[in-house]
Amino acid sequence: MSEPEISMEKLRKRLDNKEQENKELREQMKQVEKDRAEYLQNVSHQLVAPLNAIKWHIENLTEGRLGIDRIQKVLRSVYSQATLAVHLAKNFNLMSNLEADHALTKLKEPLQEIKLCQLLINLADDFQPLSWDRDIKIVVRKDCFEDAPSILAMKPLISQVFSNIIENAVKYSNPATEIVAEGKYLPSTDSVAVSVRNRGIPLDPAHVKQLFDRGFRSPEAKSKYPAGTGFGLYIARRIVEIHEGTITAGTRDGWTVFDVTLSVKGLKGKARLRE
Ligand SMILES: Nc1ncnc2c1ncn2[C@@H]1O[C@H](COP(=O)(O)OP(=O)(O)O)[C@@H](O)[C@H]1O
Ligand SMILES: [Mg+2]
Repeated sequence: MSEPEISMEKLRKRLDNKEQENKELREQMKQVEKDRAEYLQNVSHQLVAPLNAIKWHIENLTEGRLGIDRIQKVLRSVYSQATLAVHLAKNFNLMSNLEADHALTKLKEPLQEIKLCQLLINLADDFQPLSWDRDIKIVVRKDCFEDAPSILAMKPLISQVFSNIIENAVKYSNPATEIVAEGKYLPSTDSVAVSVRNRGIPLDPAHVKQLFDRGFRSPEAKSKYPAGTGFGLYIARRIVEIHEGTITAGTRDGWTVFDVTLSVKGLKGKARLRE
């Protein structure tokens, strides 16, 4: 009788290996399911907060006992909480797009001419009411910036990049400080450089690279503002990368600074997203 090609012992070993692999995969699946459940809880928790605030303000308004000054203040709060809810919902939508299609190739936003100075002024108006309570002022420095040419890019996405940076600046700033946004044209690279700076929780140099990782939140950020997903800067980085720009963070003269550079021609001629 001829020798069997594979001995029983080898087969048993292979089986053991497969069982081990199977066990590891099941554990990974469990972890993914746990992460997903936590993420959904976080999402709903974050969205419920501004929606509840709006509901509570409207209840106050309908009771009809508020003076005109108070009414105006409450309406400003309603506006800012609605801004926050829209901002969060847009991030969650982008995040699920990124999970489903890492390269975001299915996002077929048309390219538009964007005046970054105006875009930042609009965002500052949107977020300003959120920071009144803590006496934080958002300033867009127009000198130089207004003369910068438009960039060709996907407007809703670029808007979300700066929305995420400004929302962080509002959240993590110390009371009675300024948030300053400015920009200028860089002829050598035919691009527009925008910086947003604020004074608040310090950036630990050891964490600077990690800030743009999916889900990263520094211990200081967690203790100052427990609700958060750590997805804002990850989304911002992914959008900037799609536009072949750069985004970095750092500390200058006591300011926390986020620098974003976007090419004026943007994706013109490359159009890899539209084909
Ligand atoms: N303006 C800022 N000042 C200090 N730290 C910041 C600032 N913006 C972002 N960070 C840090 O980067 C982390 C990641 O930011 P982000 O991805 O937007 O997540 P989240 O806002 O949910 O914490 C924050 O948790 C915080 O540690
Ligand atoms: Mg954020």
